[in-house]
Amino acid sequence: MAHISLRCFCKVNLCLEILGRREDGYHDLATIFQTVSLADLLSIEAPAEQSVLTAPEGGAPEGPENLCLRALAAYRELRGWPAGACLELTKRVPAGAGLGGGSSNAAATLCGLAQLDEEPPDTGTLHELAAGLGSDVPFFIEGGTALGTGRGERIEQLRPLSGLNLVLARPELSIGTAEAYGLLDQSDFTDGARAAAMAEAIRAGAGPERVAEHVHNGFTRAVVGRWPELGAVLEALGDVGAMRAEVSGSGSACFGLFPGPEAAEDAATRLQVLGIWAVAVEGVNLGWALAGEPAGEEDV
Ligand code: C5P
Repeated sequence: MAHISLRCFCKVNLCLEILGRREDGYHDLATIFQTVSLADLLSIEAPAEQSVLTAPEGGAPEGPENLCLRALAAYRELRGWPAGACLELTKRVPAGAGLGGGSSNAAATLCGLAQLDEEPPDTGTLHELAAGLGSDVPFFIEGGTALGTGRGERIEQLRPLSGLNLVLARPELSIGTAEAYGLLDQSDFTDGARAAAMAEAIRAGAGPERVAEHVHNGFTRAVVGRWPELGAVLEALGDVGAMRAEVSGSGSACFGLFPGPEAAEDAATRLQVLGIWAVAVEGVNLGWALAGEPAGEEDV
């Protein structure tokens, strides 16, 4: 039985535009994804006789709906291997936060199995498997900085953004993605011009300060209206010096962009003193990394 340990990075949406509702019930998006250094830990032992998932510190949904187990089942169906696998997941990324924690776990399961597999599928096949598991899962195969379109599953890698210092902060609240989509009205739908402008700036080599000018989230009106405590967290991020603060995904996590790592650390500490869950993070240019190996922070 072979073994691999991975870090599954989470993401923020530096820009998220919802273009409109589709016939299939999904929404067309234009979003700029960015992986950041907060990560869950996933260890995989395969092949095993049965499939089991343990989450020693809790925080992971149990049962077959868990995205790691769904990813394992999808991989096994494609390859006829492994018969089973033992997965151990240590959660650090809050669930229901718009940080893509579950999606990242699913992508890392696929990529970890591919690492252990004697005949791994190619990246395109991994993307297809990932898209069947959830709209955000394909992004985490490669992570970094990317433009997501379609329902979020069509990925164009962008030049890695360097020097990104952020604070993630959230109220004590989990938001279901489908519920957040249900709160949108026509006024929240936009034409994708903001995401296109951010992508263009990133392609042209813009740094965090220029990127900050294009930060936007089409969910903000709806989710702040429904949960005012989100507005309070956005305001608190501004109070502790964020150049720009926004909701990530459909919330409940928010992020602030800061001019440097010390400013981000200080801000996170000040928010924690106020009783707000907060953590300083950096942009990383990978979706996952082998445990113990660098995450690419020093390259970006
Ligand atoms: O794809 P995923 O399973 O993450 O989506 C969860 C739910 O979020 C979908 O069932 C749908 O209600 C909503 N969704 C959407 N448009 C997207 C992505 C998700 O309406 N682009």
